[in-house]
Amino acid sequence: MKFVPKAFLVLLSAAFSNFSVFAQNPTVKAAGNVTNVNISGQQIKITTQYAQAEITVYSPSIIRVRLDKAALQPDFSYAVIAQPQTTKVNITQNAAQVTIITDSVKAIIGKAPFSVSFFTLDGKSINEEEKGLNTSWVNESVTAYRKMQKDERFIGLGEKTGPLDRAGNGYTNWNTDNFGYAVGQDPLYSTIPFYIGIHDNLTYGIFLDNTYQSDFNFGASNNRFSSFGARGGEMNYYFIYHKNVADLISSYTMLTGRMKMPPLWSLGYQQNRYSYYPETEVYRIAQTLREKKIPADGITLDIHYMDKYKVFTWDKQRFPDPKGMTDKLKQMGFKITVIVDPGVKEEKGYGVYERGLAENIFVKYPDSTNYTGQVWPGWCNFPDFTNPKGRAWWGKEINQYAQDGVSGIWNDMNEIATWGQKMPDNILFNYDGRIASHLKTRDVYALQMARASYEGARNTMNKRPFVLTRSGYAGLQRYTAIWTGDNRSEDDHMIAGVRLLNSLGLSGVAFTGMDIGGFTGNPTSALYARWIQIGAFCPYFRNHTAVNTKSSEPWTFGEEVMEISRNYINLRYKLLPYLYSTFYEATQNGHPVNRSLSIDYTFDPKIYDTQFQNQYLFGSAFLVAPFESTKEFGKVYFPKGKWYDLYSDNVQNGNQEKIIQLSLQKLPVYVKESSIVPMQSLVQTTAQKPTDTLVVHIYKGDINNHFVYYEDDGESFGNESGNFYKRNIEFLPGKRSIVFEKAEGQFQSKFNTIKVILHGFDATSTLKVNGSLSKLKSEYVSFLTPVSTFDPQGFANVAEGHDSKSITFKNDNSRITIGF
Ligand code: NOJ
Repeated sequence: MKFVPKAFLVLLSAAFSNFSVFAQNPTVKAAGNVTNVNISGQQIKITTQYAQAEITVYSPSIIRVRLDKAALQPDFSYAVIAQPQTTKVNITQNAAQVTIITDSVKAIIGKAPFSVSFFTLDGKSINEEEKGLNTSWVNESVTAYRKMQKDERFIGLGEKTGPLDRAGNGYTNWNTDNFGYAVGQDPLYSTIPFYIGIHDNLTYGIFLDNTYQSDFNFGASNNRFSSFGARGGEMNYYFIYHKNVADLISSYTMLTGRMKMPPLWSLGYQQNRYSYYPETEVYRIAQTLREKKIPADGITLDIHYMDKYKVFTWDKQRFPDPKGMTDKLKQMGFKITVIVDPGVKEEKGYGVYERGLAENIFVKYPDSTNYTGQVWPGWCNFPDFTNPKGRAWWGKEINQYAQDGVSGIWNDMNEIATWGQKMPDNILFNYDGRIASHLKTRDVYALQMARASYEGARNTMNKRPFVLTRSGYAGLQRYTAIWTGDNRSEDDHMIAGVRLLNSLGLSGVAFTGMDIGGFTGNPTSALYARWIQIGAFCPYFRNHTAVNTKSSEPWTFGEEVMEISRNYINLRYKLLPYLYSTFYEATQNGHPVNRSLSIDYTFDPKIYDTQFQNQYLFGSAFLVAPFESTKEFGKVYFPKGKWYDLYSDNVQNGNQEKIIQLSLQKLPVYVKESSIVPMQSLVQTTAQKPTDTLVVHIYKGDINNHFVYYEDDGESFGNESGNFYKRNIEFLPGKRSIVFEKAEGQFQSKFNTIKVILHGFDATSTLKVNGSLSKLKSEYVSFLTPVSTFDPQGFANVAEGHDSKSITFKNDNSRITIGF
């Protein structure tokens, strides 16, 4: 036989396979074979028989893939703010493939047919093209089919219901108003097309940045592939590889941005209902919170504060003097957040509407008439937040709220929700100069509304604004917190809500909340108590309920529930130094506040067990085990390590399940060994100064740990130019020492004294502070106060405390070493 070059054979067989699969099938189209490769630095431009591709290395761990049937459009994203970093990369090619090697990962681009697969540097398969299916189009829908790996798990994807491990399920992204949604409903309000795959001790992330309706399949109705795709636009995804989930979240938030420090008051308790009015009712709520010594920082006004639901107006009967009211409430330590919807009532003479018309910023039909849809105020036009002019106009309108002393902007109904829920496909949006239909724009509309609100508030309020949104898209964390909309006052909703927040956390959003107590319906007293307890361990802590439901303030469920609520709200306030520092961490590396156990215990199969999948870490230290209020016993899984019962300091060894007796009065919370937890004295509002002692709890353990303690003035932008106080605290069991590093930054800490409380240490330990022997004091620690009423379940009162040891020293900002 004559010699036939191998490359020719490869091409021949590939051409044949491509022909057999696709060229004969006009319904499902794929890219075909590579016909041209152009390598330029970190980027490869590829032409195939039927498509164009561009592959770009963004960092050693991030590779972006773009593919379209026609020529690629100029690059644009609402989500990604990062540029490719200069990265050491080696790109080579032969007749069969192009190989990209960075310091972290290897990508192989097959030429016949075009395919993209990712491997570790030593050749293990991380995420591969599913041969034969590849990336393909059915009409305008484009889907990337990836080989299903053995026992592959899938986590994240933002605000999605369902189990922690999403294997076997499929999901759609199409931002949807869902009043009283079912616990398994999909889609909900928000779109974050980023998920994490886990198999064979490997973890990777995929972020599909396409704003059309998108679909993810993690093995639903098939046993062959996982897939991601969208109903229009180009295939445009970022593949991220790291050895752990935490780093994947960091890389994803490197791409899409991280939150800014929130105002401190927004981490306090927020009291809300649909709706508090008139202003005397707002004062009554504020006064009652103070009288009953239930700490709180915020009151939120729902749509009834407006004049006939018209945005940027006040009902003058109900609220005759908004500025006077917000001033008075500020003196009482309360900040006001107001709701604002996108719908602007079509009404002659209504200034907001007239100005919007004059600026020509409303979304339009193709014949250039404004689109009119119906919401609370009646027929409305909708600002085009994807138009820079529309965002600027909105920002100016926000000035009204700034003048009125409002501190927070709550963006609702921004999916867009309109009565009838059928916004026409042919509505046109500016899409920052790229004119796009509703089909392409819907899922980013709310993100751009949140951006307009954030920028408007930042420019007009002179203080860090708090922005809350119901709907959003990847990157929303840059502008806003998010809550999970209209849940129900039911136990399974409370638990599903925990998972929603955990999933949002896996998807780059640290500042999240749910309606505590449930929005629709009325919670039982027991459900309310448990929900408040869980709320105290959620990033955004707001009680809310629908119109026409029973009152839902902490005192409306009887004395016992009020005491339970107060106990946990008190605990939340004492934990603010810990929580604020945890938020600082989110600003630095994107790590969430509520952390699914899949972040730290990724390869422990137990944590995905549906019995344990709701457990999470609140920051780095607290393991929270949420249970339905109806249960008398619950099973907790303790991952590896040692865990202290928060209330009694009893130690549980890890890698075991334990059945515990539940009590309404106590949420099961455990502290991870070696944890460092800074706390302060109880305050009734963040406007009140705590005592000048920072109490740092240290839990003895066998692992090294460190905690970055962070403080600033809690409200200005000074932190962005060095006006903060930051201090690394280390627990080093091997060296038998606790180290407070020198403080950094220009801010003067509000704490002049530091008290270290030692948990689990030998009572006879001698302690040396900077080398000299120091006496330990006895310290009785109790995180809850006894609930005075009889415990109807007959369980012991939960206000257990325990003896500990403490040592106190002056906070002179110098390096301090405590030897034990
Ligand atoms: C829908 C929101 O989800 C809910 O929280 C709010 O109370 C109502 N709109 C009324 O504004």
